[in-house]
Amino acid sequence: MSDQLVFEPSAEAKARTWVTEEQYEAMYARSVNDPEGFWAEQAKRIDWIKPPTKIKNTSFEFPNVSIKWFEDGVLNISANCIDRHLPQRASQVALIWEGDTPGTQDHITYQRLYDEVNRFANVLKAQGVKKGDRVTIYLPMIPAAAYAVLACARIGAVHSVIFAGFSPDSISGRINDCESKIVITADEGRRGGKTIALKKAVDEALQKSPGVDKVVVVKNTGADVPMAGGRDVWYADEAAKVPALCEPEPMNAEDPLFILYTSGSTGKPKGVLHTTGGYIVWVSMTHQLTFDYRDGDIYWCTADIGWVTGHSYIVYGPLANGATSLMFEGVPSYPDASRFWQVVEKHKVNIFYTAPTAIRALMGAGPEWADKYEMPSLRLLGSVGEPINPEAWMWYYKHVGKERCGVVDTWWQTETGGFMITPLPGAIPTKPGSATKPFFGVQPVVLSPEGRLQEQTKAEGVLCIKDSWPGQMRSVYGDHERFMSTYFQQYQGYYFSGDGCRRDEDGYYWITGRVDDVLNVSGHRIGTAEVESALVAHPKVAEAAVVGYPHDIKGQGIYCYVTLMTGTTGDDALKTELRNWVRKEIGPIASPDLIQFAPGLPKTRSGKIMRRILRKVAEDDFGSLGDTSTLADPSVVEDLIEHRQNRG
Ligand code: WT7
Repeated sequence: MSDQLVFEPSAEAKARTWVTEEQYEAMYARSVNDPEGFWAEQAKRIDWIKPPTKIKNTSFEFPNVSIKWFEDGVLNISANCIDRHLPQRASQVALIWEGDTPGTQDHITYQRLYDEVNRFANVLKAQGVKKGDRVTIYLPMIPAAAYAVLACARIGAVHSVIFAGFSPDSISGRINDCESKIVITADEGRRGGKTIALKKAVDEALQKSPGVDKVVVVKNTGADVPMAGGRDVWYADEAAKVPALCEPEPMNAEDPLFILYTSGSTGKPKGVLHTTGGYIVWVSMTHQLTFDYRDGDIYWCTADIGWVTGHSYIVYGPLANGATSLMFEGVPSYPDASRFWQVVEKHKVNIFYTAPTAIRALMGAGPEWADKYEMPSLRLLGSVGEPINPEAWMWYYKHVGKERCGVVDTWWQTETGGFMITPLPGAIPTKPGSATKPFFGVQPVVLSPEGRLQEQTKAEGVLCIKDSWPGQMRSVYGDHERFMSTYFQQYQGYYFSGDGCRRDEDGYYWITGRVDDVLNVSGHRIGTAEVESALVAHPKVAEAAVVGYPHDIKGQGIYCYVTLMTGTTGDDALKTELRNWVRKEIGPIASPDLIQFAPGLPKTRSGKIMRRILRKVAEDDFGSLGDTSTLADPSVVEDLIEHRQNRG
């Protein structure tokens, strides 16, 4: 081991672990040398209607990329997440729901989950939903969100969950892309003591989505919302009319399970498509081993169901394992900065999984909020969404984990379905800031930006993956070309993650962040191209370029350079107007942090914007701009520097 700070697994973690350090090495070697044998065995963690005989059939060769796992297997995921647990776990709690308002909660047993999901599935069927149809879900963090996705899985419909903070325009774009004819929403959501008008956003979105003919509305706050005759129905009214039981639909392993839209470096968000068999094997296995999950553990992932973390590690992974999963409607700061820790103590949470941005925000509020709570139930802490800086890691370890709990930093993506590089808490010593080692079956490689394979252990470059793993996305919905060109063209023969990384002398991976034009703002992926096209849609904007800059809490902030139409003056009022405009076009998560009015942008003679220069100025690091002589008009740089917005 190197001389960097290293935390060995505690004696307790070693004693209880599913996988020891020696077993990890042997299992890992087998997983890459004999994937067929390894995954045939792992597939047994799932109940198959017809077990697979064909295990792996995958090719990363551009332009014939094709990924199939367990391709002749037949199963149903909702039966795996619910029905099969009933003999042992009918009265065990499957979901603990903690509401935004302190004091509101619910405990949903596996029996009740079964009843609710069966009923929900029959409501969807009664509304005309058939196997293979796409169902858009725009719900707050209430149990109905889990029922809705599991109901889709039960009848073989493909869900497309949209985070309940996205704007009407973003909703309609996603509805139209996958041609869904039905939307499930609620009257309103609650977050941080405020209400969010969800039905209203859907009504507005549907003006641009004429293909939708049904809206199922879950009553949540009880707000009075207009209901369009013939189109909108209350969930409860329909639930009263349908039978209680719904047989799970037999699904092929490669049938689509869900679409989740995510931002890329160009164009509109892509519909990341996940399928059935490989996905459930992957999320169930990673959830069990990375969190060292055992029967009786109370597990809490603070993500929202609108992101992949919520799909894989609030709903599918934990429930496939018969776990008790806590679902939280609120935010870390409401009513105050001790909310997370109150909830941990109240529900006796053993495993807690959150994002660096939340940790940094709570760090900023001061350690006393966490120090007041002993949290004796806690055993393991997890981190996800962006690189965790060592200071935040140490704060988490000390003030939340009381130097007693391990920390697992899990690197993965919407595209990967589940964990890719992560410690196993009883097997792999951790280093603050490193996601450590690959999970079984994952073969990370480091390439130079030009694509040369870095074979020595110590290396730095772009992070690619050499071969397929079962949880991998299969395509971009409706656009396999875009799937291949985004992930398999630039570095042929590999899956390109879009991240940069460093591998140290111990073979540990340190993710350094995106190498493409994707920002990571508070753990949310935002394409600079999306913010730019929102800005240029404003009548006063002629041109816009968006880059990221380091932000203490969000990880990255959104920095916008805006060239205005001739005759328009850039003032603070216009900045506010543009900020609100982007919030309305995309959603509050894409709100610009800094706006600089720039009379000109740095362009090459062929008209290409030199983003490298814009990034440096945004980082307040203009001493090292590099060669600017190829610019069409080098003098614009002086103006950019003079009016820079991020002064250290
Ligand atoms: C991007 C994927 C994975 C679920 C949540 C985000 C960054 C994610 C880590 C980590 C360093 C991380 C990467 C990745 N990222 N986890 N533990 N360490 N970076 O999913 O929206 O698909 O974003 O988030 O840059 O590419 P996503």
